[in-house]
Amino acid sequence: MSVSGKFCAAAALAVSLGIAVGGASLARADERAAELFQLCATCHGDDASGNFLYGAPAIAGMAEWSVKTQLTKFRDGQRGMHFDDIFGMRMRPMALTLRSDEDIDRVAAHVASMPATRPEAELHGGDAANGKTLYAPCVACHGMDGEGREQLSGSPLANVSDWYLLRQLENFKAGVRGGRPGDQTGAMMRAMSGTLSDEQVMKDIIAHIMTLAK
Ligand code: HEC
Ligand code: HEC
Repeated sequence: MSVSGKFCAAAALAVSLGIAVGGASLARADERAAELFQLCATCHGDDASGNFLYGAPAIAGMAEWSVKTQLTKFRDGQRGMHFDDIFGMRMRPMALTLRSDEDIDRVAAHVASMPATRPEAELHGGDAANGKTLYAPCVACHGMDGEGREQLSGSPLANVSDWYLLRQLENFKAGVRGGRPGDQTGAMMRAMSGTLSDEQVMKDIIAHIMTLAK
């Protein structure tokens, strides 16, 4: 075999090995993600469609950047630290079990890859037509279809449980969420929640958001 022939054979071998090694490590990463998700499933459900009794929202198919942002906030104590944040305090220790940024990335990718679920409506008395008008100021950060806006850190809202959305709006308004030092994006939303005069306004907007579920 000529020198160039040997080189070609070696290169071909390296390429095929590279693919094999890459494939194996990818499979390991998937395995690790599935392993990490087992804990999440105990509260969020096997299909991550949420569990009202545990107060755990639907997270299946949630944008990867948003899952990562929220897990990081829980881990770093920007969320789930307020004394009145009963549900956030349930989630915070779970985020603390994710020991590295890589684990956060892996489990976030796993959650994002799951098919989004359509949450059942649990709230009553919201007027979706009125809510559509009231939703106009939210579009800039959350998108017309509630798909979320990464540039402004506005969380995706479509396909999220209505009872969870109401709790979050109330939490922001009461300063239970978005009030920690250094939580600039939480502070943005906290300021916005101040414009929501009462629970009826919140319920109307949420009734509209529920129509956006895909
Ligand atoms: C002990 C129950 C429990 C377990 C286990 C759990 N969670 Fe949660 N999770 C919750 C609760 C309750 C909330 C709602 C917190 C709130 O109301 O602020 C939540 C909220 C979240 C949110 C925020 C959703 C949003 O729209 O901002 C994400 C993301 C999340 N969990 C991901 C995970 C992942 C990933 C795991 C596994 C590593 C996990 N959770 C394990 C109970 C749990
Ligand atoms: C200036 C930008 C901005 C505007 C306008 C805005 N939001 Fe937000 N909103 C955010 C950000 C940023 C977050 C994420 C905060 C965090 O990371 O804790 C958020 C989070 C939320 C959440 C929590 C979602 C979850 O999964 O936990 C809800 C609910 C919400 N916003 C509803 C609304 C509604 C309803 C309006 C309109 C009345 C609105 N927002 C207007 C920036 C905005």
